[in-house]
Amino acid sequence: MLNIGLPRPLVLLCFSALVQGYQWPSPQYDALEDFLYEGARPDGSSMAQLVSPCKLRAGTNTTVAAEWVRLVYHDSATHNVSDGTGGLDGSIFFELGRDENIGSGMNNTLSDFSQYPSKYISRADIIAIGTVWAVATCSGPVIPLRGGRLDANVAGPFGVPNASDPLDSLTNNFAKQGYNVSEMIQLVACGHTLGGVRYPDFPTVVSADSNPSDVVVALFDDTQTFDHNIITQYLAGTTQDPLIVRNQSMASDRLVFGADGNVTMNAMSSADSFAQTCTTIFDKMLSTVPSSVTLTDPIELLPVKVSGVQLTIDTAHQQLQLQASVRLVLSSNNTSVKMYWCDRYGSAANCAGNLQRLASPGGSTTVSSPTSLAMGVTLKKYQFVVPVNSSQSVSKFWFEVDYGNGTTTTEDNGGAGYVVDQDQVLWVPSLSRGKNVLTGAQGVFVTAAVKTGSAPSKVYISCFGRATTNYLPANFTYDLSLNSTLPAMAGYDFYSGEATDDFGATMIFDLVGVAGNGTQWVDGDRFSGLIGIALPAQSTVNSTTQGTSAGGSKGASAAVRGEARWAVALGAVGLLWTVAYL
Ligand code: HEM
Ligand SMILES: *[C@@H]1O[C@H](CO)[C@@H](O)[C@H](O)[C@H]1NC(C)=O
Ligand SMILES: *[C@@H]1O[C@H](CO)[C@@H](O)[C@H](O)[C@H]1NC(C)=O
Ligand SMILES: *[C@@H]1O[C@H](CO)[C@@H](O)[C@H](O)[C@H]1NC(C)=O
Ligand SMILES: *[C@@H]1O[C@H](CO)[C@@H](O)[C@H](O)[C@H]1NC(C)=O
Ligand SMILES: *[C@@H]1O[C@H](CO)[C@@H](O)[C@H](O)[C@H]1NC(C)=O
Ligand SMILES: *[C@@H]1O[C@H](CO)[C@@H](O)[C@H](O)[C@H]1NC(C)=O
Ligand SMILES: *[C@@H]1O[C@H](CO)[C@@H](O)[C@H](O)[C@H]1NC(C)=O
Ligand SMILES: *[C@@H]1O[C@H](CO)[C@@H](O)[C@H](O)[C@H]1NC(C)=O
Ligand SMILES: *[C@@H]1O[C@H](CO)[C@@H](O)[C@H](O)[C@H]1NC(C)=O
Ligand SMILES: *[C@@H]1O[C@H](CO)[C@@H](O)[C@H](O)[C@H]1NC(C)=O
Ligand SMILES: *[C@@H]1O[C@H](CO)[C@@H](O)[C@H](O)[C@H]1NC(C)=O
Ligand SMILES: *[C@@H]1O[C@H](CO)[C@@H](O)[C@H](O)[C@H]1NC(C)=O
Repeated sequence: MLNIGLPRPLVLLCFSALVQGYQWPSPQYDALEDFLYEGARPDGSSMAQLVSPCKLRAGTNTTVAAEWVRLVYHDSATHNVSDGTGGLDGSIFFELGRDENIGSGMNNTLSDFSQYPSKYISRADIIAIGTVWAVATCSGPVIPLRGGRLDANVAGPFGVPNASDPLDSLTNNFAKQGYNVSEMIQLVACGHTLGGVRYPDFPTVVSADSNPSDVVVALFDDTQTFDHNIITQYLAGTTQDPLIVRNQSMASDRLVFGADGNVTMNAMSSADSFAQTCTTIFDKMLSTVPSSVTLTDPIELLPVKVSGVQLTIDTAHQQLQLQASVRLVLSSNNTSVKMYWCDRYGSAANCAGNLQRLASPGGSTTVSSPTSLAMGVTLKKYQFVVPVNSSQSVSKFWFEVDYGNGTTTTEDNGGAGYVVDQDQVLWVPSLSRGKNVLTGAQGVFVTAAVKTGSAPSKVYISCFGRATTNYLPANFTYDLSLNSTLPAMAGYDFYSGEATDDFGATMIFDLVGVAGNGTQWVDGDRFSGLIGIALPAQSTVNSTTQGTSAGGSKGASAAVRGEARWAVALGAVGLLWTVAYL
């Protein structure tokens, strides 16, 4: 179902070369990459599904994609290139009451986006990702996505062009935004290949039909896809673009498209030149940010992506547990993967004596977004949940992949392994919950496990949320205290506390333990506060003694096997534990 686009070997070559230098963990890159290519936030809630596959907006004849693309332009159009102010900064969330932002499409879009910003993905980055998906899911090109936009959190300047403006004001306005005449033509043509003008929002352009309560959309061209028809129909004189053929005092597309005697329109009239031109000019629009902001390089697909890493306590079985998942680009359905790890303590610490432990995945799931679908890649995520003896613990892990095509590789984070940075303070999801699930109140109840004997002087959580009801970021810390009603287990004591503010739909917290001597242990985690914490299903661990793995003497150490559990927890209300290191 997803095999479209470039031949696979070529695609692989491209992205492998481009992500050299990446090393896990890279919190912002990891979060942007997950969202861009998997389509969903860490709890599984999918923003991609709102737009894909090139969906119509309910109750209208326009696409969700068109609404998202109009909104990004209106946010970015406030840029003033001379003084570096305005641009794609999320200020549009505070500007929808303005005449220049009229239209129910804008309000719909704002509501689509409001639940997805997080600590590492700003609201402005969400708007940019929405644009990349909108174009890709409606058969357009894959626009590069850079991250790192900062949110304004207040309304910005006015300045979106008006369809009744004369050509010199349109040209001046685009020049203020940083576009010359050819770029203005390109940007408007690429934007107006999607969607159209609607009644009742623009009644002097589009009239009501027989039922005045209907939304009537007059499309800019004869398709809903991101294609060059907007150009070819204009050049052929057959266009039905309402901003050309309807009300001649609201005819900005006629003025813009003809602004250079059709030179630019002719130059981008083939399907290929249209896709190429739109890729470049949309990249420019998405990079139109206040001059104080520095964007990242484009976020490339990682061929091997580790996420959901967490050392925790399996309270049902009273033991330490390691959770992790690895996402691979599949070449074959015969792909198989195993996880290996080293002990942290004891005679086999750091794999002394070549003693490694090994586990098979407990489950797997296929993930996709409009971007990965358009690239024609198949992404599969393998989940591991393994019991760990707390007197041995874990120092690092890695994977052995058999791609089923004759290639077997060791995926070990460029040789470093995936290092578990500490085991002194751990989040315990099974003893934590979103408060509103139970009471309707804001906030969360969090329990941490702290290694017995570490005697911390302070244990606290530092919480951050951005998907709040007022769109403003929330950032607070709360102390946790020893919870004497929870008996110690597996060498850990439990500390609990409540975060009582509104952190919105996606909260990330850093769990910090401070030792008497000033040492800090930090364990970052992320979960979805609004929908509550969906706990991993109870463990049914099958601890079989098997031979050790590669290089080890067979039978010298116990290999353990984690059975499927959190594959099922990955559904609509599932929780995925993504470590967000400070
Ligand atoms: C001269 C500058 C522009 C003017 C005067 C203008 C005007 C308009 C108007 C009046 C509508 C109808 C909105 C509605 O009925 O809800 C519209 C729709 C739209 N505009 Fe523009 N626009 C301009 C530039 C752009 C640019 C640069 C982009 C994106 C790159 C863009 C993207 C869109 C999209 C996608 C729609 C369809 C929305 C939908 O179907 O819901 N526009 N535009
Ligand atoms: C959408 O367009 C179709 C065909 O042009 C028309 O039959 C239908 O009534 C329109 N729907 C809406 C909600 O405008
Ligand atoms: C843009 O910034 C320049 C330089 O500060 C200023 O002169 C100009 O008035 C600004 N343009 C608008 C439309 O605000
Ligand atoms: C969109 O939201 C703005 C700001 O809250 C509001 O003023 C406007 O009436 C809303 N428009 C529609 C069509 O709902
Ligand atoms: C756009 O121009 C029309 C017609 O001149 C006017 O009615 C409308 O208020 C203008 N919109 C804005 C946001 O200035
Ligand atoms: C507009 O800018 C682009 C990119 O810098 C350039 O290639 C093009 O020649 C310019 N067009 C005009 C009309 O100045
Ligand atoms: C540009 O194309 C339009 C639409 O075909 C046409 O009406 C117009 O005369 C053309 N302009 C020039 C300068 O050729
Ligand atoms: C097998 O697939 C992997 C991952 O898709 C790829 O890196 C490798 O080059 C392929 N091997 C062969 C022999 O095609
Ligand atoms: C895996 O199998 C499915 C169903 O048979 C098939 O559609 C898909 O193309 C296969 N994927 C790969 C990567 O070969
Ligand atoms: C501080 O205390 C912790 C926990 O007891 C210990 O691991 C660490 O080595 C100590 N650091 C120093 C500098 O004494
Ligand atoms: C949260 O607030 C603290 C202290 O005010 C600050 O150091 C930190 O950078 C803030 N975090 C975020 C993500 O804004
Ligand atoms: C201790 O944990 C229990 C069980 O989760 C909880 O009900 C109780 O409120 C906690 N006590 C404190 C002081 O946090
Ligand atoms: C445990 O796993 C082993 C090896 O995969 C299997 O032979 C055995 O039947 C399993 N036991 C249970 C109770 O599932």
